[in-house]
Amino acid sequence: MNNFQFYSPTEFVFGKDTERQTGALVKKHGGSKVLLHYGGGSVIRSGLLDTVKASLTEQGISFTELGGVKPNPRDTLVYEGIDLVRREGIDFILAVGGGSVIDSSKAIAMGVPYAGDFWDFYCGKAAPAAALPVGTVLTIAAAGSEGSGDSVITKEDGWLKRGAGSDLIRPRFSVLDPALTCTLPAYQTACGATDIMAHVFERYFTNTTEVGITDRLCEAVLKTMIAETPRVIAQPDNYDARANIMWAGTVAHTNIVGVGRDQDWNSHGIEHELSALYDCAHGAGLAVIMPAWMEFVYRHGVMRFAQAAVRVWGCEMNFADPEVTAREGIARFRQFLHSIGMPINFAELGAKESDIPKLVESFGIGSGRTGGFLPLSAEDIAEIYRIAARAAL
Ligand code: NZQ
Ligand code: ZN
Repeated sequence: MNNFQFYSPTEFVFGKDTERQTGALVKKHGGSKVLLHYGGGSVIRSGLLDTVKASLTEQGISFTELGGVKPNPRDTLVYEGIDLVRREGIDFILAVGGGSVIDSSKAIAMGVPYAGDFWDFYCGKAAPAAALPVGTVLTIAAAGSEGSGDSVITKEDGWLKRGAGSDLIRPRFSVLDPALTCTLPAYQTACGATDIMAHVFERYFTNTTEVGITDRLCEAVLKTMIAETPRVIAQPDNYDARANIMWAGTVAHTNIVGVGRDQDWNSHGIEHELSALYDCAHGAGLAVIMPAWMEFVYRHGVMRFAQAAVRVWGCEMNFADPEVTAREGIARFRQFLHSIGMPINFAELGAKESDIPKLVESFGIGSGRTGGFLPLSAEDIAEIYRIAARAAL
C-alpha cells in the first residue's frame, strides 16, 4: 500500500427533510450573504428551491439567485456568477442541484478572489490560493462532487471540458436527502449509477499491491450499485434503495475507497471529450467508454480483472485460463449497463466514428502517454474509441 493523506472535511447531513437545515448549516459555516446557484428548473418544479429559501430566510440569511446551470456546466455562466458575487458582496456559494451545479459553484468560489481568469485553474496555468466557502444540497447521486475537491467545466470557445482540483473547494457541508432524487427520470438515475461505478473502477484497476481493504471497500460499493440500481429503476420512489445509492455515490468519490493505491483516470478523460463534443450526459459517455477501456487494458492485469469478475460480478474462476474470467466480467458490466438503459456504443450515444481523430486531438497528449494502470498513447486512445464505437452485447 502507498503512503497517503486523506482529507475529507465536508459535514454530510443525510436523511429525510434534511434540506430544511440548510439555513442553519450556512450560518454554522460562516455564511451571511448567499449565492443560490441552481440548474435548469428541476429544483423549482420539485419545490426544493422554495424550501431552501425559507430555511435561509428563517436564519436571517439574504440571498441572490443565479439559475440556468446546464449539464456539462459552461464557463460563460461562471463568469457571470463571479461578477455577480463580487458586485453583491456575497460570502457563501450554495449549490442546489447535481454535479453540474456544484462544479459551477466551485468554479465561482475559486474565481472570485482570483485576480486572473478562473480558467487558469482548469488549463493548469495556476492553482487557487483561496476560495469562497461552498455548501451543497444534492439532487442526484452521480458525480460525487458533494464530497470531492474537483470541479469540471466546459469552455464554450473550443468546447474544451477540463477539471480543476483543490482541497479549498471541498464543500463545507452537503445535504443529502435521498427523497430529493425520486423525481429523477430513469435515464438520469442510470447515468448517475454508471458514473458512481466508474469512480470506483478508476480506482480499483491499479498496479499497487497489498490493498485488500480498499479492494473490499470498492467491491462493496459496486455490489451495492448492482443490487440497488435495478430496484430504483423499477420503483423510483423506493427511499431505501435511493438512500443506499446516494451514500454509495458520495463514498465512491471522496477517495476513501481509493487511498493508498495508484489510480487510472483515463476512462474519465476519454469520456470528457465525448460530453464536450456531443453534450451527452457524462454517465452515458462512460457507459460506452469504460468497458472499451477495460477490453483494451485487461491483459496488463489479468488477475485483477479476474478478481473483479469473481468478486463483483459473481463469475466462476477459470483457473486454466483466467483471461476467460476477466473477459466475462467485462461482458457482464456491459450487459448490466444495457439492462439499466445505458448506451453501449457510439451509435446509441449519438457519437460518430469519423470524429475519432478530432476527439484524440482534443484529448491532447501529443506524443506522450498518460494513465496510472496502463499508460496510453494517442494511438491507444484512438483504438479505445474504435472499440467503443463498434461495441455490441
Ligand atoms: O438542471 P436541472 O433542471 O436541475 O436538471 C438536471 C440535469 O438536467 C437533472 N436533475 C438533477 N437532479 C434532479 C434532476 N431532474 C429531476 N429531479 C432531480 N432531483 O439531471 C440532469 C443532470 O444533472 P447534472 O448535475 O449534470 O448531473 P451530474 O450530477 O451527473 O453531473 C454531471 C457533471 O459532473 C461532472 C461531469 O463531467 C458533468 O459535467 N463530474 C464532476 C466530478 C466532480 N466534480 O468531482 C466528477 C465526475 O467524474 C464528473 O466528471
Ligand atoms: Zn465521473
